[in-house]
Amino acid sequence: MPNGFPARVRIYEVGPRDGLQNEAHPLDTDTKLGYIERLVAAGLREIEATSFVSPRAIPQLADADALLLRLPHGDGVRYPVLVPNMRGMERAISAGATAIAVFTAASDAFTEANIGMSVDSSLEAFRPVLAEAARRGVWTRAYVSTAFGCPFTGRIEPERVVDVSLRLADLGAQEICLGDTIGVGVPSQVHELTARHIDAGLPLDRLAYHFHDTRGTALANVLAGLEDGVSCFDASAGGTGGCPYAPGAAGNLATEDLVYLLDGLGIEHGVQLGGVLEAARFISGALRRPLASKVGQAGGWDPSTGRATDREARQRW
Ligand code: COA
Ligand code: ZN
Repeated sequence: MPNGFPARVRIYEVGPRDGLQNEAHPLDTDTKLGYIERLVAAGLREIEATSFVSPRAIPQLADADALLLRLPHGDGVRYPVLVPNMRGMERAISAGATAIAVFTAASDAFTEANIGMSVDSSLEAFRPVLAEAARRGVWTRAYVSTAFGCPFTGRIEPERVVDVSLRLADLGAQEICLGDTIGVGVPSQVHELTARHIDAGLPLDRLAYHFHDTRGTALANVLAGLEDGVSCFDASAGGTGGCPYAPGAAGNLATEDLVYLLDGLGIEHGVQLGGVLEAARFISGALRRPLASKVGQAGGWDPSTGRATDREARQRW
């Protein structure tokens, strides 16, 4: 692969969790399952399904316990769930979770607003959660949100991001995911963050990126991550999702836009574009809004034949 691109990439689907958590239009459990079933059919094998957080904080995901018990198993799919504290861990384990994600940020102001704790106290809250996960053989990821900028405090020093990442890794988090929560990042920041994490001793295969396309830089940032050799990227089918603290924020990088880029670059990922568009159309229909993604609007295009693909998947609005 040119430029040190990885030969294969993991697409970590966050639509059912990050994509839906701030949606005001309430969706029932059956609709969420319909979305997840379509994602599985599209070939996605890591699907962040829901959050075991306070139902008062995130009413849309209040059905986490019921949803988890009904997830389709048997295709080797990993379904991580968000867990903020031991209470969430106990609920997740009771519902059969085998993969979890804890979440903090690079700035105290954001962490306080999001989970009512400073970064330091969030790490203390995760200590028993990650220890329990290790004891049970549960797969673990840890998010460092606001790694590229904070809606409250602005610029984030990369040293601070690395410090939080390393402390999470020390607590046992297997994967560290750096989040551009408000979509302000640019490729030079990606290169700097990757380099600093590697210099600090975090192996490349434990690093993932989570981009929002708020200012149109998400795919450019993915390309920067690929050039660095990073091989796990988050995306949301349909490009749903947005941060409640970032007014006017667009959603996550759309899975269909990521798949299109990776296909064109010849990087393996195991996901079919048509299937993702099917899931994307399904969820945007349920949310009663047009598909926000570029490929969702234009359809795919096969450079070898010079023909448009997935035309039938186009939304007509
Ligand atoms: N699941 C369900 N309920 C929970 C819970 C969990 N994991 N953790 C706490 N609660 C309940 C408590 O029992 C309490 O309920 P009550 O008011 O009926 O007594 C209430 O939530 C408040 O709990 P408290 O311990 O005082 O914490 P808090 O009010 O500071 O809230 C969090 C802390 C972490 C529970 C809350 O901020 C939260 O769930 N945040 C999630 C934010 C999120 O998901 N953001 C998007 C992801 S980036
Ligand atoms: Zn996000």
